[in-house]
Amino acid sequence: MGISLSGRSFLTLLDFTPEEIRYLLGLAEEFKRMKRTGTPHEYLRGKQIVLLFEKTSTRTRCSFEVAGRDLGMGVTFLDPGSSQMGKKESLADTAKVLGRMFDGIEYRGYKQSVVEDLAKYSGVPVWNGLTDDFHPTQMLADILTVREEFHDERGRKLTFFGDARNNVANSLMVVCAKLGMRFCACGPKELWPAEDLIAKCQAIAKETGAELEFTDDPMEGAKDCDVLYTDIWLSMGEPDELWAKRIELLHPYQVNQKLLDAANENAIFLHCLPAFHDRETEIGEKIYQKYGLESMEVSDDVFLGTKARQFDQAENRMHTIKAVMYATLK
Ligand code: CP
Ligand code: NVA
Repeated sequence: MGISLSGRSFLTLLDFTPEEIRYLLGLAEEFKRMKRTGTPHEYLRGKQIVLLFEKTSTRTRCSFEVAGRDLGMGVTFLDPGSSQMGKKESLADTAKVLGRMFDGIEYRGYKQSVVEDLAKYSGVPVWNGLTDDFHPTQMLADILTVREEFHDERGRKLTFFGDARNNVANSLMVVCAKLGMRFCACGPKELWPAEDLIAKCQAIAKETGAELEFTDDPMEGAKDCDVLYTDIWLSMGEPDELWAKRIELLHPYQVNQKLLDAANENAIFLHCLPAFHDRETEIGEKIYQKYGLESMEVSDDVFLGTKARQFDQAENRMHTIKAVMYATLK
């Protein structure tokens, strides 16, 4: 029987089978081809979606907006300051109202339970645009980018360097386990993923042939590595006071030329973005003034170098988010 995700929410990749994830990737490849060739694809004309953002965003918001319009849908954007949610109206009531007006809801915010409750009370598909725990739409873009480089993601070693228990690292461990890849979390032990999530992923890996590794040695993480991946050292919602501690803990895990040289010859670099690779941002400059660091999680030469694929990856957010909305709303 063919795969149908119609009516489903997209909250974490733990809820999806490897076949369903591959189906979404295949759809994204098709949508990317259509976009490139200028083939119209307003398959969801007449539908309406709403985007709720309680944290800031460039890529995710733009991806949902552009993908929604390309599919022919009406798109409404709500930021925390312009809705009643949480302040004058409960989450459940807000979800019930939105479910009466919209065919689908995107949510970016803090607790994973919020996105789960939105799905529970709205009665329409809800898409997780990032929570403190997971960033599942990012994963489809990441794996699509890996495929574009290596044709098949299976058996490839992806190492995440840095804060290996943040939303992006958690989600990478899940998607690698689901798709039979080698995932390595490389960072200080206190920032490795939570034990219960590791246990869930180990159980999945047993079925798919994936391998999970954990190391606090950057050279070990880089060994045999096909994809070097990193993310910001302090995620949205974490207190600024943690910068000093994170810098101290994570500076040995910066993705730089030395790490790249220790990886496979044809390895690529990925970053979900935004990235601190120079002093051209407010925070980047402040960190330089206080700690003397020109860059943080990735050196500028790697970010600008020939192995870097982060802008292909960013473009792929749009194609993959389109696939998710189409599959769940059609
Ligand atoms: N990668 C990502 O989610 O980017 P934004 O925060 O800009 O949406
Ligand atoms: N871990 C980062 C990802 C940003 C896309 C954060 O949550 O801020």
